[in-house]
Amino acid sequence: MGKPVYVTEPFLPPLDELQVYLKDIWESKCLTNNGKYHQELEKALCDYLEVKYISLFTNGTLALVTALQALQITGEVITTPFSFVATTHALRWNGIKPVFVDIEPNSYNIDPAKIESAITPQTTAILPVHVYGNPCNVQKIKKIADTFGLKVIYDACHTFGVKISGSPVLNFGDLSVMSFHATKVYNTFEGGAIVSHDEATKKRIDDLKNFGFEDETTVVTAGINAKMNEFQAAMGLLQLKYINGAIEKRKQIAGQYMDLLKNINGLTCQSDLQGVKYCYSYFPVLIDRNKFGKTRDEVYEELKKYNIFGRRYFYPLISQFPIYKGLDSALPGKMPVAEKIAGQVICLPIFPGLDETQIKHICGIIHDFALKKE
Ligand SMILES: Cc1ncc(COP(=O)(O)O)c(C=O)c1O
Repeated sequence: MGKPVYVTEPFLPPLDELQVYLKDIWESKCLTNNGKYHQELEKALCDYLEVKYISLFTNGTLALVTALQALQITGEVITTPFSFVATTHALRWNGIKPVFVDIEPNSYNIDPAKIESAITPQTTAILPVHVYGNPCNVQKIKKIADTFGLKVIYDACHTFGVKISGSPVLNFGDLSVMSFHATKVYNTFEGGAIVSHDEATKKRIDDLKNFGFEDETTVVTAGINAKMNEFQAAMGLLQLKYINGAIEKRKQIAGQYMDLLKNINGLTCQSDLQGVKYCYSYFPVLIDRNKFGKTRDEVYEELKKYNIFGRRYFYPLISQFPIYKGLDSALPGKMPVAEKIAGQVICLPIFPGLDETQIKHICGIIHDFALKKE
């Protein structure tokens, strides 16, 4: 049956290269608090990602919570139900009411055409997600935000190095939030960041993630502890050395899947948007039961029989979890596209260590299953 293949496997650099950093950390005894590697990584990421300011965090969720604090967002925020639950939880942790809006059928991102009707006098911001690394329609979202005086915070946790027509997607919106969790294209074990565009905002974020300390004796705000430590930062510096190769490998895998899955009736791979440079963080496919002959859940279970563990990201929708399903915007039938995609999607394994034999094996199981009569 072979060893289990999970939806992802973290990319890890050679251990002996990390040991050089560890030795240095041991000698310096500087483990955290804006240490040498933290400072180096902020600079290196700004260069690599072509953004002006980055504030490193211990994880993406605390970065989301802090981004909302930094812009003093209150009241209601318009967001997508098709994401990892942390997107909406970050609103809850700030006492903000999430207002869910349906997604687009091609990008699976929040549908800008449906945002305006969800705006109320309490709306202060939009929190879209570039889901699976597909950029949102940033121009249309900007136009709506400008017209109604709303802030835009992008959840860019799936979006490492993604560009639209040569422009980094992280430069759109007031802030973008990243995750460097083990499951992501670029990982620091756990980690995260906020991208900002001016020095004052960067400073406010940096104060907020460090208990509100401005200097040794001055506390300027009720901050939290969300700092990235030196071990994570060292890991991040080392990962940057290998990131281009890792993304290139993901691109090849996505191409192989596209090729091997292209002629299956009822199975749809997500097509690339024009002019986008991707990071290939996920490989979602949709299973249309009427044409494929089996449900998405049956495909998921069939793969499991062969020790292949796809994931039904993002099912259930965030709006279907008990804590959110009582909201008006979460009522069944209000988000038909999101409901349909959540019922059909399965993300297939994609990570740099996945080899061609494994890809052919996964696609072979899906082909055979499509042909199998009950
Ligand atoms: C879209 C999205 N937002 C937020 C998060 C939270 O990030 P973290 O796990 O680094 O806290 C994740 C994933 O983990 C995510 O996929």
